[in-house]
Amino acid sequence: MKKIAVIGAGTMGNGIAHVFSQSGFNVSLIDVSQDQLNKAIATITKNLDRQLTKGAITEEQKGSALKNILINTSLAEGVKEANLVVEAATENIDLKLSIFKQIDEAAPEGCILATNTSSISITKIASVTQRPGKVIGMHFMNPVPVMKLVEIINGYATEKEVTSQIVELSRQLGKIPCAVNDYPGFIANRILMPMINEAIYSLYEGVAGVEEIDTVMKLGMAHPMGPLQLADFVGLDVCLSILHVLHDGFGNPKYAPCPLLVNMVTAKKLGIKTGEGFYIYTAGSKDLIVSSRFK
Ligand code: CAA
Repeated sequence: MKKIAVIGAGTMGNGIAHVFSQSGFNVSLIDVSQDQLNKAIATITKNLDRQLTKGAITEEQKGSALKNILINTSLAEGVKEANLVVEAATENIDLKLSIFKQIDEAAPEGCILATNTSSISITKIASVTQRPGKVIGMHFMNPVPVMKLVEIINGYATEKEVTSQIVELSRQLGKIPCAVNDYPGFIANRILMPMINEAIYSLYEGVAGVEEIDTVMKLGMAHPMGPLQLADFVGLDVCLSILHVLHDGFGNPKYAPCPLLVNMVTAKKLGIKTGEGFYIYTAGSKDLIVSSRFK
């Protein structure tokens, strides 16, 4: 595999394009918005510069990584020579199903179709294509250049050979692959989201404050971020939508989202992306300031 198409130039898409290009693959980065593509290249350049400053890569490696990426606003054009397509568009089922129908029509016959979905059924996505055996989940973690894991999700029809190829490819990216099966939340979010939800419930019930909850989990369990900070990082809307997938998929009340989370999403306090969640985020500052709502 040499030619990789990445669909969606947002946070996950640009991170995925970054790691493939840095590992010597030719990347076709596709998005409907030229502006988003330009922003993605600027972000990848900034993150490569960060690695350069740390001595993790050389100037030459930075140059060849950037040269390996071509941008494209046409999906059909961008995937036509791909050996693998990794879709990282917005987490919306109708959008993903429509994109997969288009990729299936435009990509070469043997091309593997992967999705970076964090919660949508791989089996469902595969069912709208003519090649369900070649559809698989490739779930990268944010920030993609830093996080070692790739959660690989086998749909009901995914061929064993396809899983082996994606496991091997993930290793070539310097990542650690873990293959799991296609049930709601897979493994990462089935375990992460109930923890985040429980942290929000603890705050809602007044058991402890934002800083106390995060400090207990950071210092007591050696998590790099506390669960409330992590929820802000992931996006509270994303957390809520994954909890809905778990709740609907298993029909178990233990996954019911905390009413505080629902309220915050309704009020558009979504975390880092809107400047406020459990904490307040000021551009350029790394300080963690608890939102006045929770003081
Ligand atoms: N690109 C390249 N390098 C980056 C980077 C990026 N986008 N972001 C950070 N880095 C590098 C920094 O340069 C730094 O490198 P060195 O160790 O060589 O110095 C290192 O990562 C640490 O960064 P910082 O010093 O800026 O900040 P930090 O020490 O606070 O770490 C963090 C930041 C890596 C994000 C850390 O807080 C962390 O690991 N947090 C948890 C992240 C996590 O859990 N992610 C998964 C979320 S869930 C998900 O993604 C899936 C889902 O479906 C919801």
